Order: sequence, then C-alpha cells, then structure tokens
Amino acid sequence: MADKSLPYFNSGLPVTERIADLISRMNLDEKIAQLYSVPWEVSISDENENFSPAKAEQYLKHGILHVGRPGLKKSPREAARFTNAVQKYLVEETRLGIPALFHEEALHGLMAQGATSFPQAIALGSTWDPHLVRRVFAVAAREMRARGSNYALTPDLDLVREPRWGRTEESFGEDPYLVSRMGVAAVLGLQSASVNIDNEHIIATVKHFTAHGQPQGGRNGAPVNVSMRELRENFLQPFRAAVVEGGVQSVMASYNEIDSIPSHCNRWLLHDLLRTEWGFAGFVTSDGWGIGQLDTVHHVAANKKEAAKLAIEAGVDSEILCPDSFQFLPQLVKSGQVKESIIDRALERVLRSKFNLGLFENPYTDPDAAEHIVGCPEHRQLALEAAHKSIILLKNTGNLLPLHVDKLKKIVVIGPNAAGLHLGGYSYEPTHSVTVLEGIRQKAGNDIEVLYHEGCHITKQPSDWRLWWQDEIGLVDPAEDDKLLDEAVEIARQADVAILVIGGNEGTCREGWDDNHLGDRDDLNLLGRQNELVLRIFETGTPVVVVLINGRPLTINDIADKVPAIIEAWYPGQEGGAAIADILFGNVNPGGKLSITFPRSVGQLPVYYNHKPSVNRHYLFAITEPLFPFGYGLSYTTFSYNNIRLSASNMHKNESVTVSVDITNTGTLAGDEIVQLYIRDRVSSVTRPVIELKDFRRIYFKAGETQIVQFTITPDKLSFFDVHMQQVVEPGEFDIMIGTSSVNYLKTILTVHA
Ligand code: BGC
Repeated sequence: MADKSLPYFNSGLPVTERIADLISRMNLDEKIAQLYSVPWEVSISDENENFSPAKAEQYLKHGILHVGRPGLKKSPREAARFTNAVQKYLVEETRLGIPALFHEEALHGLMAQGATSFPQAIALGSTWDPHLVRRVFAVAAREMRARGSNYALTPDLDLVREPRWGRTEESFGEDPYLVSRMGVAAVLGLQSASVNIDNEHIIATVKHFTAHGQPQGGRNGAPVNVSMRELRENFLQPFRAAVVEGGVQSVMASYNEIDSIPSHCNRWLLHDLLRTEWGFAGFVTSDGWGIGQLDTVHHVAANKKEAAKLAIEAGVDSEILCPDSFQFLPQLVKSGQVKESIIDRALERVLRSKFNLGLFENPYTDPDAAEHIVGCPEHRQLALEAAHKSIILLKNTGNLLPLHVDKLKKIVVIGPNAAGLHLGGYSYEPTHSVTVLEGIRQKAGNDIEVLYHEGCHITKQPSDWRLWWQDEIGLVDPAEDDKLLDEAVEIARQADVAILVIGGNEGTCREGWDDNHLGDRDDLNLLGRQNELVLRIFETGTPVVVVLINGRPLTINDIADKVPAIIEAWYPGQEGGAAIADILFGNVNPGGKLSITFPRSVGQLPVYYNHKPSVNRHYLFAITEPLFPFGYGLSYTTFSYNNIRLSASNMHKNESVTVSVDITNTGTLAGDEIVQLYIRDRVSSVTRPVIELKDFRRIYFKAGETQIVQFTITPDKLSFFDVHMQQVVEPGEFDIMIGTSSVNYLKTILTVHA
C-alpha cells in the first residue's frame, strides 16, 4: 500500500506539484504503464467475469493508465463493483497506488448494458439545439461515472463531407459552425465547465483529429488531401472550439493522412497547432491500433517500435486498447532512442487527468446509486425529447401528415426497419426501447387496426443494432423477396394509409475497420428492393408515408418525386418508435432540419452546401441541385420571414452590428423553427464560399405568434484566412441572410469599412 502521507496524495497542494512529486517516484515500468490501457475488462477477469487479482498481477502490477469498456455487458451494479475492485487493487496492491481511468464509448449515450441510448450523432446534429445536446451528454457522463467509468472517447467532431463514408452517422453534420456548437455543448455536458471534474462528470475526448470526414472515395481512413486553408476554416474549427471554449481534456488522433503525414506522427498538428497555438493542456490519445498503422498501413515506420518513437515524439501521449506499439517504449528509452524526458512530458499530461478527476481522493463509486441512475425514467424522458427534436419532415404534400386518428380504421406498417430496434453504431442494449411498430400500435389505440408486413429485406441478417459489430453482412437474392413484395402490396391495398419504414441498417452504414467488417459504399441508393416496394405500394393508391431509418443521406429520387410524405428519423434512439408515432399522429410537431446535404446521386459528390463560387457549372442531362439542401426541414405549421434589417448598414471592420427579422407562425399549430444566419463576402482577396452558416437559433412559436429574431454580426463572423494565412476582415460588401434553410432566406447588404 502506498504511503498516503506523500505529497502527491495531498489534495491541498497544486496539481502541478503533485504530478512532479509522483513522477519523481516512478520507475520506468511504472511510467510506461501510465501511457497505455489494457484491452477491455476481459483481460483482467476470471471465467465468471469477475475481477481477477491473479490476472491483475500480469497486467496491472505496475499500474495502468486506463481500462477499456469495463463491464459492457454487466448490469450497472455489477459494472460499479467491477471498477471498484480494479481501483481497490491498484490503490492497495500497487507500489504507488495510482487509480485507473476507465474508458467508454458514448457517441449517443453510454454504450453499455442498461444505459440510455439517445438518437445517433447525425440525429442530434439535426436538432440544432446545443442546450439539448449538452443535457444528453451530461446524462451519458452521469451514467458513466455511476458505473465507475470516467473517460469517454467522445464526441466525434468530424465534419462529414462524404456521405459514402460509413461513419457519416457518427458526425453532427457537414458545417463547421454547427459542428462546433454541438461539440462545445457535448464537451461541457461530459466534463462540465470546470477543470476539476466532479463525480457526475468525466473526461471527454474530441476525435478524430483531424479531417477524417472527407476520405478519398468515401473509404474509411483514406487520405484527406485538403489545403491548409480548408483545414483551418472547416475541419479544424470544431476542434479549436472544443479546446479553446470547451476546455476538452483529451484529443484522439485520426487514422488518416493529410498531405502525406499520418496524424499519429504529425507533430505540427499534435504539438504546434494543438498545444502552442491553441493552448491545449490535456493529453492526446491514439486511435485503436493507430500507432501501429504507421507501420502496417502507412509504411512510414518499418516496425511498431519505430512507430512508437514517431508517435510519442510527435505528441501522442497514450495508446488505447492495448500496448500494441507502446510496449516498445521501455526498450526505446533504455537504448537512448527516446529520451526519458519525452516520456515524462506525456506522463505529466495523462496524470493531470487523474488529479483533475479527483481519483486520488475518491477512486470508488456506489453500486446502489449506479443501479438507480443508469437508464432511469428521467434519462428515458430526455431520450424521447431528443428524438422528437431530431426528426425531420422532408415532404408533406397535401398535409397528409399528421394522420387523423378519427378518420382512420386500418393502418399498415410495412418495411424492413419497422419491427426491429435500430440504434445505429456504438450502441448497446438499453433498459427500455420502442420500435416504430410498437410506437404506432401504442398510439393507434384500440379503434384502429394496425397490420404489419416486413415487405422486403435490406440484408440477410436480421435487421437490428447488433449488426454494427457483427462482421459478416450479405444481401439477399432479389428473387427471395418476390413473395414478400406481393404480400405487402396486397395488405397495403386494404389499408387507409401505408407507413413504410425503410432506409439502411447498422450493417450497411458503419465504421469499416477491416476487410471483413466493411461499411463504406460506392452508391447511396436504397439497398435491395426497397425502392420497388415503395413504388408498388404507391401505385395501389393507398396514401403512403415513408419513414427513413438510416445513418447517411440516401439518393431517394423516385420516392422524393412521388411519395407525398417523407420523414427522416435517422437512428432515433431507444425511444425513437414512440417519437416517430408522436409525429405521425400529430402529438408533436416536427422541427428538426438537415445538418447534411442529400445528394441526388454519388456523381454529385462532394455536394456540401458551403462550396466555392466556381462550383457553378451545371451537369449535362441532370439536375445540379441536391435532393434536399442543408438546413432544410418542414413543420406542420408555416413560418413567414419579413423585414430583414441591420442596426446599421455600414460598420467599421472592428465593430459589430445586429441583424433582425420578424418571423410569424402563420399556421394554426405551435411549432419550433430553426432560424439560420448566413453570410457571403461578395468580393475577397481569396475565394470565399457562396454561403456560410454563422449563427442559428431553435425557437418555439405559438400559433399565430410573431417574434423579432436578432443576431449579432461580429468581426469574427466576417473573417477568413487571407493569402498570408492571417485571419482578417476585408472591407467591402457582405450579403447577410436570415432564413429557414441554406436556400430559402431574406437578404440584406452590410458594408464594412477599413
Ligand atoms: C474508432 C474510434 C473508437 C476506437 C475505440 C476506433 O476504431 O475509430 O472512434 O473510439 O475504435 O473503440
């Protein structure tokens, strides 16, 4: 047992002094052990899945930085007991008594047995509600800490500009401003605003640093060869905001290379920019096997030992999952190839997180509290609210929606995504869940008959969330679906309305991490015979509503053309079925908007909205505009925008002005409107996007209500990186636009003077 009277145990001393004292007492094995993790809890468990002191002797005797996913499949109480047992071993049986971090995934809620599963990240992005996102991530942190975990490998701040990429769903969207706001909210929800983290919060990690979201060909991990200006103005913005505004304490390096430099050995990225320019004080973690990939994938190192040297010298402080490459650090130090001072520098950063979390004072959690907190009714309610706010109404011709219960006798719910639970990637089994079919049945009550048919397959495998980590995914022989299609069409004929629940599933859009676990696609059409299913049912004359459950934009051209009502629900989380039913039956008015553009074809890619002016040539024989634009989404009510005005039409480049607009809910229902501020620099010394989001607000309007909505135009919103890569505001005229989407707005002109 370590001597508790030593200075590093003294909570009255400044953290820097405690760290220095601790490092001065550590031998090389103990130092290196604080730079990596053990693979999952299984490596330190016995055959009954309890903590095994014998295995701990093998893996933890020198201490450990962190343990991965402690108790994924365990109940909250069992997980809390497990993490307590690990901490007790480390505190009482190791020489220095340093408690562990426990890392978890929490992309959209904690990924563990019984934890609350919220809508997928792309759906949270569609809420355009940072306050809600902060509450969602605060719940993830609370559930995590209750189980004894304290380090989340989340949020994902990749700007997704390539929807073929299977990780599209993990991103909040394609826009740097929107993703920045969501990222800061998520970090504050997870960590709180304080450097010293209380026992309801945890350490957050922003990932994947950087530019992971526009891989060549949409293939996961492929190069992202964008210019420095593109990097700074787009991909880096959310990370900068998370560091500078959010105070995030951990950053994960990305797998990809930028301009031939893989991120895991990019010293400019991990040191010059992150630490010197942005002042990051936390630690950099590798991605899983990301250091080894400097050898196995990128071939910039001849072996993992060389990879370890490159990574630690570039600024990667720790290795997740297992000591794959960092196992060579002791040899590297002993042979003089890596200076011990570099190890100490990394150590200083990782140990700081343990002091900030208060682990030396209290490494334990309360198993009783874990049982009550994880998946509790209050958290479930928040999952429902988040689902309501994330769902987007894409089309509603003739006001087919909301459905009028009193006019319906028979509803048919058809489609491969209707009856299964779809949570998206990085999910586990929540305590409570509602499928779309269950949600509709509950809302329809006894007076409406609800029929169900699968309609067709998406994949051979049963369609549910478990597919995200199952390796094998196959498509069915189209002929096998003949009978299903015929049956579904016949059932649809008998109904007053057909609700078609289609899209993708967790096997067709996911992180492609291996050749036997793929997730990227070369086409964005609906898989299998889903398109045909919808069109055949449409031809019966029964009114059709399409509900999409999916992880990336889909090229649903025929459906968008013909079907009167379309809802994009993404993966709406554990309460998603109830939320969809609330929207179908009008208990809730939809207000989500797209945080990513829907292309018409993969031939249009890249198709992100904030493109440069020269992307102006049309395609031969095709429509150039995307299918659904960024920022778009309908409501059951209507809003009119009037009278855009500036507080002054001229300003000095260091001043600010306000821009206002009158918005009226012109319908008979209350509803949310997401009001968006865009700007365009009309003439600039380097080319600027044709339109850029600079602010937004989600506002509730009563029926008939008018509100004046105001935004402040600050120099920051008008600035860009000039030819010398200096952030400047150039005098001249700017279009100032306030609207309901990136293509529908009012415009005024602001003149800026030197
Ligand atoms: C992903 C990360 C994730 C890590 C550990 C990697 O494959 O890129 O986002 O945090 O696995 O689960």
